[in-house]
Amino acid sequence: MAKVYNFSAGPAVLPHAVLAEAQSELLDWHGSGMSVMEMSHRGKEFMEIIHDAEHDLRELMHIPAGYKVLFLQGGASLQFAMVPLNLLGDKDSVDIVNTGHWSKLAIKETKRYAKVNVAASSEDRNFSYIPEESSWQRDPNAAYLHYTSNETIGGLQFPYIPSEQHGVPLVCDMSSDFLSREIDVSRFGMIYAGAQKNIGPSGLTVLVIREDLLGKARADIPTMLNYQVHADADSMYNTPGTYPIYIAGLVFKWLKEQGGVKGIATRNEEKAGLLYHVIDSSGGFYSTHIEQPFRSKMNVVFKLKEEALDEIFLLEARKNGLAQLKGHRAVGGMRASIYNAMPIEGVKSLVNFMQDFARQYG
Ligand SMILES: Cc1ncc(COP(=O)(O)O)c(C=O)c1O
Repeated sequence: MAKVYNFSAGPAVLPHAVLAEAQSELLDWHGSGMSVMEMSHRGKEFMEIIHDAEHDLRELMHIPAGYKVLFLQGGASLQFAMVPLNLLGDKDSVDIVNTGHWSKLAIKETKRYAKVNVAASSEDRNFSYIPEESSWQRDPNAAYLHYTSNETIGGLQFPYIPSEQHGVPLVCDMSSDFLSREIDVSRFGMIYAGAQKNIGPSGLTVLVIREDLLGKARADIPTMLNYQVHADADSMYNTPGTYPIYIAGLVFKWLKEQGGVKGIATRNEEKAGLLYHVIDSSGGFYSTHIEQPFRSKMNVVFKLKEEALDEIFLLEARKNGLAQLKGHRAVGGMRASIYNAMPIEGVKSLVNFMQDFARQYG
């Protein structure tokens, strides 16, 4: 099999060691004679798997007491509705920061249930920056403030955690930079992330939620959308996505071996640094419109100087074992997603290719 480096934005590359381990125990998990896919979610084997996954995640993120970890389904997109349905309580408005595609979808869905105050937006300059926090127009009566720490499509990332004001809890869609850098969980009311970038396969959504935010769900919502129900049942109200949870558990163990979040964050900085350096030193052959402090370390979005070169760039890249570099159709150009599991060798290979390509076509 030819070596391929996969730069997909998600579902995305998983650690090779994790896939190999899953393969080796696919038919027989730890001498049980069963595949994880075949096990009862309430049996002692799977209980051990989910317990270890939660334990390792808590350790990796230093999740303090007073927070629940939930393993749910429906993707991050379902959270766009579940968050307001669960967290509005007796309030009727929500603050949201609009930094691009995913924030906009969160706004759209939230508007079905609440008044939305767009506390800040960078749409005026094509989502190339994060508005200065002091300029945000916050509503002191908002139920929570929602933001997207990393805009996967636009390639725009918050370099900091916003401050909590007026006791309004922070809710963060951390789908595409979860576990990529150290964060202080205690600053958040709730964090959620679709798994298919830094956690595992699609079909799993991970939530970290402060316990005092549970129990505020609207009475008329479906049982399956109620956080309290899932929290009370330790994510076992119904059949959870057992196999994605198992793979997530392997990814968490792998991450611990990489020096934890701190270790991987250093490597993520290095990988992103290599790519942005090639872009910045290409004499305009490659460019990114994202302002320096807000450039994503997970999704490096860039354009070639002529759109006509896009197809040939992608074809040549693929021939060189560099896959899934096409940018999202909403922004065009290229996107190199360099999540935790992308080895530095993959980024170096891309960097060399980009330099050669620029020499040939520049
Ligand atoms: C930041 C962000 N939020 C939400 C989503 C939607 O996730 P899902 O497809 O799991 O619903 C994505 C998907 O890529 C994303 O990148």
